[in-house]
Amino acid sequence: MNSSQSLIVVGLQWGDEGKGKIVDVLSEKFDIVVRFQGGSNAGHTVIIGDKTYKFRIMPTGVVRGKKVVIGNGVVVDPVVLLEEIEALKSAGIDIDLLISDRAHLITPYQIQLDDLMETAKGNQKLGTTKRGIGPTYSDKVSRVGVRFCDFVHHKSKQWLTLESSSKSQIEKIHGIKVENSDATLFDSFSSNVRKLLPYVGDCGEYLESKFNTGSRVLFEGAQGALLDIDHGTYPFVTSSNCVSAAASTGTGVSFNRLNSVLGICKAYMTRVGTGPFPTELNDEVGKRMQNQGREFGTVTGRPRRCGWLDLVALKYAIRLNGCRYLAITKVDVLSGINPLKVCVEYDIDGIETRSYPASAELLSDATPVYDKLEGWSEINMISPKSKGFSNLPHQLRNYLNFIEEITGSQIAMVSVGPDRADTLLVPDVQI
Ligand code: IMP
Repeated sequence: MNSSQSLIVVGLQWGDEGKGKIVDVLSEKFDIVVRFQGGSNAGHTVIIGDKTYKFRIMPTGVVRGKKVVIGNGVVVDPVVLLEEIEALKSAGIDIDLLISDRAHLITPYQIQLDDLMETAKGNQKLGTTKRGIGPTYSDKVSRVGVRFCDFVHHKSKQWLTLESSSKSQIEKIHGIKVENSDATLFDSFSSNVRKLLPYVGDCGEYLESKFNTGSRVLFEGAQGALLDIDHGTYPFVTSSNCVSAAASTGTGVSFNRLNSVLGICKAYMTRVGTGPFPTELNDEVGKRMQNQGREFGTVTGRPRRCGWLDLVALKYAIRLNGCRYLAITKVDVLSGINPLKVCVEYDIDGIETRSYPASAELLSDATPVYDKLEGWSEINMISPKSKGFSNLPHQLRNYLNFIEEITGSQIAMVSVGPDRADTLLVPDVQI
């Protein structure tokens, strides 16, 4: 891969592919790291030596001392962002942050509505992270949302519109009386937003000026293609576009500037929350993946459902994102499982297909057709100095080759453990 001025890093499954770690490793070579969608539903973990950093909104590049940008496509909970800023400051990390003046704010109403809407759905619930993501994006599209710029130039008249809309939903639809709404909530909310105003500015204009002076910009996706609002397993999805195209609309940077996409894929599949999952394993192997992979949500702590790698889904996600290159993470978790199964086709109502169905109902009826591959017993400990593919067991190299053959994408990175140092870069690939 030739070094290009921009790189978009996206998840190719249902989130939790290990993007935080890969972005951390790559961000060393970039000047600016930008988030362009999602909000505090994301949970990015970076482990450096004996220190673990967890972020929900802050772009991961912050631990490398990079300029970090929160684009207009992100929905920001001011309380969470302030907590992250405080935690980073007390860890002695300097923060050079720009927040888009066009980014929407998550208010306490929207968090409350997320919870009420989930409860009202009963056993049809999506299993959202209850961070107010859905209601905030809904209000954005309904044109009643509150943005940072409302606090810069006005006394936030938008708050009143949002307040009356949310209040009527909470009271009329969910039958709950909202006490002390306007004054008390607005005061504490706006005082938090004001603390963030020194970081607020025009993100698109800033990034364009940096592109013009030769800076390298890394766009850090959150969630994954199968959770995308348009292309994911609707309605069991998040409320933003998580595919690479969103890096343009979510920052105000023209797509002409964006030329390279790296997709991140776990060596197996996981999913948090409800929704179809054809290769899910409700057995000892699935439990083993969950334990070995520490598959528990960063944001909610919920156990993640686990299953075999699904190459029908992966090919679909690669096409949507246009990724020529892949990073495969958590291969160490599969060590000791033999044989390994990989889904290459679905059987839906007796018809074999390699197309990813639009309907979640149809996807729930899909029976995976598997190829079996030989597993490996262990991965040799790889020290940063002796990094190299020749150190990997030949069965693992076969597994990786199989992914490349079926998807037509090239593997550029392989992650063999949680630490920054446990990352192999394919020789001759320059990112
Ligand atoms: P929401 O984004 O909180 O509305 O949740 C919608 C769905 O997306 C739920 O199934 C969540 O579990 C899932 N989800 C949202 N963010 C993430 C993430 O960062 N990783 C994995 N799943 C996520």
